[in-house]
Parts: sequence; C-alpha cells; structure tokens
Amino acid sequence: MNYKDWAEWYDIFYSSSEHKEENYYTEISKNIEGNILEIGVGTGRIAIRLAEIGKTIIGIDSSSEMIEKAKEKISEKKLSKKITLIIADMLNFNLDEKFNLIIIPANTLLLCNDEEEQTKVLINCQKHLTDNGKLIFNVYYPDNEMINENNNEKFMFNTVNIKNGGRYILYSKNDFDIISQTNESTQFIEKVDHNGNVLFQKKLKVKTRYLYPEDIIKLCEKSNLSVENMSRDFSDLPINQTTDNIVVVAKKT
Ligand SMILES: C[S@@+](CC[C@H](N)C(=O)[O-])C[C@H]1O[C@@H](n2cnc3c(N)ncnc32)[C@H](O)[C@@H]1O
Repeated sequence: MNYKDWAEWYDIFYSSSEHKEENYYTEISKNIEGNILEIGVGTGRIAIRLAEIGKTIIGIDSSSEMIEKAKEKISEKKLSKKITLIIADMLNFNLDEKFNLIIIPANTLLLCNDEEEQTKVLINCQKHLTDNGKLIFNVYYPDNEMINENNNEKFMFNTVNIKNGGRYILYSKNDFDIISQTNESTQFIEKVDHNGNVLFQKKLKVKTRYLYPEDIIKLCEKSNLSVENMSRDFSDLPINQTTDNIVVVAKKT
C-alpha cells in the first residue's frame, strides 16, 4: 500500500484526533527495556511520543515520503538519537535484532491485500521478538452497521480548522467486499474557504483487509503467536458490539 500521497495530509487529520491511541502505546512502553520496534512508523506520531519519555525506537516504513516527514519532525524536536528510521517492507524486513516490544498501531496490519500477507507480517514480527517479548497491534472492528449501511456512500470523517480561516474536510467512501474481507475506501480531502467555497479537492485510496477477533486468533496461531489479551478501544474492557478498535497483545508460543 503506497502512502506517498498521504504524507502531506496524515498529520493534518491525525493531529486533531483523540490521543487515546498515542497515550496507550506510551503507557505500555514505560517499563520496556531496550529498543522498541514500530512497524509502519509513518510520520512518527507514536514514535516521537515514546522517544519523549526516554525510549529508543526503531521505526520501519515502506514509504520514503512518510519517513521524510518523520525525519523533519524528529530533528525539530531534537530526538534524532532516540529514533532510527529504516525504509523496509513489513512483509519481508530483516533486522539483526530481537525486541521486547513490537507495535503495529493505526490499522497498519490491515494494509495488506489478503490473509497470506497478514500472516507474513506476523511471522516476521514473531521472528523479531525476544522469548518474553510482546507484539501489540490495533485494528478497527468491522461492525455490521459500518459494512452494510455506509457502503458506497460518501460521509464526512473529520474537519480541521485552518489557522487563517477556512477548513480542511475529510470525506470517506467505503467499498466493502465481504468475500475477500476488504474495504477499498476512497478519501476525499477538500480545502474550503471561510465562505464554504471549495478551493481544491484531492482523492486518496486506502485498501484494508479487515479482521474479526476470531481471524486474529487464527492468524496469530499460524504465526506461532498466542493472543494474551484482546480489549476494546485502548481500555481494559472486553470487545463488544460498540468496539471501534480491537487492541491485541500477543506473545511467542
Ligand atoms: C496508518 S499509517 C500509521 C503511521 C504511524 N504508525 C501512526 O500510528 O501514526 C500506516 C503506515 O504504514 C506504512 N505501510 C503501509 N504498508 C507498509 C508495508 N508493506 N511495509 C511497511 N510500511 C507500510 C505506510 O507507509 C504508513 O506510513
């Protein structure tokens, strides 16, 4: 999945989102010894938070454009010594190191075409874990309402006010396929002035292969990982029908 076109927009929309996810990964990293590996580090949204509490992070990403954005932010914050960025594919990366914690935030495991690719990612993570190491990732919960009711209808996802007036608006259109368990979504970014006139529009595609909790357990088993815990929305609570995010903690079997 190519994030080239996203590099310019990612922080604009994510910086305005709730910080539950960032807080969660910061909290679970507190007692971790050694380097932490982040898969799909992107613009460094989470890695920077971890570096700010003194952690050292290795971040891999296949997009040089996302990595460039991360580099700029990391250097501005003078955190270059804490974060190492590597351009690599999560399907086949090979680092000569094992980690006590590997994280895959923000649905990144879903940025695969199919189950085979997702298994490859997990096997690769498993190989990079220490014996007692943990793999923690989060993916969206594919609830029936989202899959059946919003399909192919454009809806507003987020708006961000621009300092000198006007707004960026992010619309989304889902296209779920329940056989392949994929969503070929289209995101529309609009910049509007203070009178509501559209100044420009940009279209971006994101494909995800979504997972139900039972798929996650199966994928982990195939990758020699066992699921230690699955909870909802960065809390300790169990998954239910209102879950937005499934948070998975897995260990080597
Ligand atoms: C949703 S962003 C998450 C960024 C960051 N972890 C965060 O939480 O803000 C997903 C990132 O995964 C990267 N990515 C997508 N496919 C990848 C692959 N096959 N290998 C490595 N990185 C990939 C994208 O380039 C993008 O930066």
